[in-house]
Amino acid sequence: MNKNPKTEKTFTLTNDETGESFKLPVLEGTEGPPVIDIRKLYAQTGHFTFDPSFTATGSCKSRLTFIDGEKGILSHRGYHIADLAEKSSFLDVAHLLLYGDLPNTKEKEDFDNEIRYHTMVDEQVNFFYRGFRRDAHPMAIMCAVMSALSAFYHDSLDINDPEQREVSAHRLIAKVATLGAMTHKYSIGQPFMYPRNDLSFSENFLYMCFAVPAEPYKVNPVLANAMDKILILHADHEQNASTSTVRLAGSSQANPFACVGAGIASLWGPSHGGANQAVLEMLDQIGSVDKIPEFIARAKDKDDPFRLMGFGHRVYKNFDPRANVLKKACDEVLADLGVSDPRVELAMELERIALEDPYFVDRKLFPNVDFYSGIILSAMGFPTSMFTVLFAVARTVGWISQWKEMLEEPALRIGRPRQLYTGPKSRPYVDIKDRK
Ligand code: CMC
Repeated sequence: MNKNPKTEKTFTLTNDETGESFKLPVLEGTEGPPVIDIRKLYAQTGHFTFDPSFTATGSCKSRLTFIDGEKGILSHRGYHIADLAEKSSFLDVAHLLLYGDLPNTKEKEDFDNEIRYHTMVDEQVNFFYRGFRRDAHPMAIMCAVMSALSAFYHDSLDINDPEQREVSAHRLIAKVATLGAMTHKYSIGQPFMYPRNDLSFSENFLYMCFAVPAEPYKVNPVLANAMDKILILHADHEQNASTSTVRLAGSSQANPFACVGAGIASLWGPSHGGANQAVLEMLDQIGSVDKIPEFIARAKDKDDPFRLMGFGHRVYKNFDPRANVLKKACDEVLADLGVSDPRVELAMELERIALEDPYFVDRKLFPNVDFYSGIILSAMGFPTSMFTVLFAVARTVGWISQWKEMLEEPALRIGRPRQLYTGPKSRPYVDIKDRK
């Protein structure tokens, strides 16, 4: 493991105005492109860098997740996502992300028990839900109830204590599933189902979402298996918008439940986690196969804000390795449930046409993970508005692992980007009677 990136190489920067040259250290990780260390750039040159959407900026060192967008590689702690999705459980991946290795038999048993032990939420949390309208968007509820948990766990507030950090991480991973299921139940007007600790993480989640107190509920193993895969595929994804949000919030040493609440807010948008909901809404909007060319034309029209949801990715410029795994799981679920959803046919035709169209081919726009996840989740019985909540349940593992990694850095400093100021220059104050 490369904990201390090498610094022998340098990158020379020349100021064209003054002719001065500056040597900047070049760091190399275990994989991925080298990184120019600009931490002393301002002190040395008096210049900041400008990278508004962080397309070329490494904001931290991390040992958790590696992505090679050109080759379509996603790995966690060195293990490829397809292997993890096929051979591991979601909690194995959570252990891997949190602690650096897949658990052995004893560790697996202990970790699974530890998470199960934390699945219940304080009974007072029920009352938060009652303050919401039933038609509130589930992500609005999730942002609020997750942040509200920061008011409950006072004993895990000392983030400088590694043990308390660990308990916070376990609580978050366990309780976010309970909160997600409660959010679903609240939206559809059904009673909350308390967690069942004899079930696996994914079985329990499906149970809390779909069981009712009036009758027994048997978890379908095909659905539990697909749910586990969905959770694994969404568990972590390097320094994306929501993870960067959690890290930035956490860099001020804020409460971890509140930081994860901020991550949920960031995830909600349609350019990020909200895309799985947007895919199904788009399929409904397209309506039938014969309308596809019209929508493809709109997606290509720069004067039209319409985009093909579920296509394209900031990092993957070849294929999204998560999409391949999910496509297979999607087929299994649909076959097991015997669902014939016309949107599936529509989605497959849309995919076929887009993948042949030079606009999408030239820009390397491929179906991403969200293109398929919405179809599976819909077949399982989740309403569209719940899709991003499921993403949040999974990504909480990544957020809290990244937060924990950041807190373990010896010299944690608050994150504070700079800017290119383009407002008015300094000017004298104008009294109200003299203003035009
Ligand atoms: N439909 C039509 N054109 C698109 C699309 C799309 N879905 N995505 C990108 N483009 C075009 C874009 O207009 C631009 O064209 P040009 O070069 O002619 O100006 C070119 O492709 C590059 O796009 P970009 O906006 O610079 O790419 P980005 O890296 O900023 O955006 C993205 C990435 C995911 C936000 C974008 O592809 C998008 O909006 N996709 C649809 C939403 C979506 O599916 N999001 C889920 C991402 S996967 C889940 C996750 O990991 O969070």
